[in-house]
Amino acid sequence: MRMVPSLNVPQRYGQIYRKHLLSKGALDLRYRIQKHSNGTVTLPLVPSSLPQLDLSSLQCSVAHGSRCEIVQIQAQPSKKGKSKYCSEKLVEAVQDQLSSHGVSWNEDLKSDLPQSWQRHGDLVVIGEDCFTLPAWKNIGTELWSTVAHGLGAKRLAQIKRISNDGFRTPLVIMLLGDSSHVTHLDNKIRYEFDITKCMFSFGNITEKLRIASFNCSGETVVDLYAGIGYFTLPYLVHAGAAHVYACEWNPDAVKALKRNLQLNRVSDRCTVHQGDNRQLPLEDLADRVNLGLIPSSEEGWPVACRLLRRDTGGVLHIHQNVSSAVPSTDARLQPALPAADGHITTEGEDKTQVSLNASLGSHRDREAWRTWAEDTATRFAELLRDLTGQVWRTHIMHIECVKSYAPHIHHIVLDLKCTPL
Ligand SMILES: C[S@@+](CC[C@H](N)C(=O)[O-])C[C@H]1O[C@@H](n2cnc3c(N)ncnc32)[C@H](O)[C@@H]1O
Repeated sequence: MRMVPSLNVPQRYGQIYRKHLLSKGALDLRYRIQKHSNGTVTLPLVPSSLPQLDLSSLQCSVAHGSRCEIVQIQAQPSKKGKSKYCSEKLVEAVQDQLSSHGVSWNEDLKSDLPQSWQRHGDLVVIGEDCFTLPAWKNIGTELWSTVAHGLGAKRLAQIKRISNDGFRTPLVIMLLGDSSHVTHLDNKIRYEFDITKCMFSFGNITEKLRIASFNCSGETVVDLYAGIGYFTLPYLVHAGAAHVYACEWNPDAVKALKRNLQLNRVSDRCTVHQGDNRQLPLEDLADRVNLGLIPSSEEGWPVACRLLRRDTGGVLHIHQNVSSAVPSTDARLQPALPAADGHITTEGEDKTQVSLNASLGSHRDREAWRTWAEDTATRFAELLRDLTGQVWRTHIMHIECVKSYAPHIHHIVLDLKCTPL
């Protein structure tokens, strides 16, 4: 089932938040508002409205004293959403064009239209799972002007897939327009990049907003997989990090990263390390390390341990795609034991209290996340012990579900506090 970003608010403030989001065009009418047994409601959000949402000012201006947070929730289509899932304008435009080429409209053609797309200013990127039927070939390249027009864009591109070249380079082809250079503004941060050379993940927006809400003043942060600065920039612009070391080995991404640091006037607080982060000549300096690589950042775990401050330790943000498609009788779902000479804690030493942003995911999903988090906490205690010869306490602070990747596979982030004892 599809996960959608939603605003979670106390039920008594539900109506007032609903009206506000509606007036801003930020309520996603394709999905239902859901009530939860803990006295909250979730209001589905239009993904493109997320960058403009400022939670602290919402809390003050919409309902003073209320609390709200962005969560990912399993979508339930609304009645309206079912019928309006495709842009009507796009349907009308392509329908006319097909009929002028003697092709009559049918439901197969309708379901072969893009169901979602990414917008970067005047450029729209569609996925590869559309326009697959031979009938579209009759129209030729005019089709792309019609589609762009129907989607309110001037340029059109299609993402084939993210390649496994280690750089996560997207295989993107331009269908309409010459330049593949885009500018993207979100949460007051400006990103510029070439969509055919660098990836930009819209799905990470909730994590980026979460980072923006951290208070990192005085901290030294290392972003091991910086890309074009998707997480590096919120650390600098909003979280107020004293210094960020940003590591990236894709030369195109490094070029965009450096440009984006300048555009956002934070270059003086960032050192870019171009190359393989496993060769990074730094150690014992980080208060925080961001490990934003999926499906797994495991290859960077020893590097993160080396980077952490030896005197105070620090916090790791460890990204991972976790699958819960395992039988619950599997041994992996048994509680992990602390390492023999390390110490793992979860919030309040009570496993049920681990903070998860999870009215989200099924019980089985959450169990799998917790098991992975406990295994990872054990592993880090061992890595840190082997590296330093000291005993370390690793403490699961929070597990954040960023998005669902496939049924029962979620991109999660573990916030792990590591302290030398
Ligand atoms: C998921 S992508 C980018 C994530 C980034 N936070 C973003 O959304 O812009 C991961 C990035 O890590 C880089 N990368 C992967 N392995 C690396 C390594 N060993 N050293 C340095 N960079 C690496 C890739 O080139 C890619 O740009």
